[in-house]
Amino acid sequence: MSDVLHDLNVESLRKEFPILSQNVHGRPLVFLDSAASAQKPRTVIDSMRFVMESQYANVHRGLHYMSEKTSDAYEAVRDKVAGFLNAASRDEIVFTRNGTESINLVAYTYGRTALKPGDAVAVSAMEHHANLVPWQMLRDAHGTELRIVEITDSGEIDFESLERVFADGKVKLLAVTHMSNVLGSYTPVERLAAFAHERGARILIDGCQAIVHRKVDVQAMGADFYVFSGHKLYGPTGIGVLYGRAELLEAMPPFLGGGDMIEHVSFEKSRWAKPPHRFEAGTPAIIETIGLGAAIDFVNEIGFPAIAAHERALTEHALSVLGNIEGLRILGQAQDRGGVVSFTMRDVHAHDIATLLDRQGIAVRAGQHCAEPLMGRMGVTSTARASFALYTLPREIDALAEGLLRIQRMFA
Ligand code: ALA
Repeated sequence: MSDVLHDLNVESLRKEFPILSQNVHGRPLVFLDSAASAQKPRTVIDSMRFVMESQYANVHRGLHYMSEKTSDAYEAVRDKVAGFLNAASRDEIVFTRNGTESINLVAYTYGRTALKPGDAVAVSAMEHHANLVPWQMLRDAHGTELRIVEITDSGEIDFESLERVFADGKVKLLAVTHMSNVLGSYTPVERLAAFAHERGARILIDGCQAIVHRKVDVQAMGADFYVFSGHKLYGPTGIGVLYGRAELLEAMPPFLGGGDMIEHVSFEKSRWAKPPHRFEAGTPAIIETIGLGAAIDFVNEIGFPAIAAHERALTEHALSVLGNIEGLRILGQAQDRGGVVSFTMRDVHAHDIATLLDRQGIAVRAGQHCAEPLMGRMGVTSTARASFALYTLPREIDALAEGLLRIQRMFA
């Protein structure tokens, strides 16, 4: 498999994804909705089956063979994720349910202790609801302020707006996406981290989209918190990651209380375990965590140079092919943009686009993409969105373009 993967021979690589050989409505499946959730390679499926069939018990609790084996496999994924992100320590990796839970964890714990009423949190205008709503909830419960950093018409962070938002020194946390799930824009996270740090603020980076396409080095980029979910990274649902710098996690109180997150419990009070276990109450997503480990191995074996080059080529192809369709508007023209292309088409509602494409076996997402305020900012109510993965072929983008032209003819 290695040779095939190193060359990123996509046709061969696709054989690793059993679902991709299906027909939908009598047509070969063209899956262009990987930004919502990616398909799973056989190795991920097999790793999860192996745990359940051969090596399963609860973790951290038993002194028996099966529990020890499972605990080792579960904890080995923590090392793997730490290596994947280049974290300074495995203790900086907290397993959560998804990216959303990771951000809520930070908002609820760091937000209510490190931030004081009157402090401000800044988010960009192109955040997913997951990186907006938790900060609204914190504001309403704790008296912090929430400020919005504007984006430019091309879908990039507006640094003049950023300066204004930080001008009075009240912003103590910048929470920002690494890649917009609507516009495909990558944000200059190193520059943003340096900007926040120079002003005494921390930075949380939502990496759910970016981590699929690019090598992430949390130390090099200066992240204080970095979050992502397993299911977009070819892993299972139900497992997410919160990276937090050790000194920050150390100072944070627990999010949920229960088993596994304590050091000592009496009827009167409890003493918390150290991070990361302090933030992992209850039986974790054992099988899914092991599946995530297999997904990381899979991606590592292919390597980010090839993955990123493939994403660039697909994006260029999509922008050129879709850009030729009259009446089609692509949202966002960031200099640094990746494999998520949202668009509208004159006279056809996004939901009709998605439904009619589906009849041709083509899966895209349509609607507001969990980014309703951004829709308003871009002057649309909804869009259709095609998104790419390492198994996407240029000819699938051609199929999308042909499908769109067919829809246009139907509406003409
Ligand atoms: N956040 C995912 C998306 O953008 C679900 O589709």
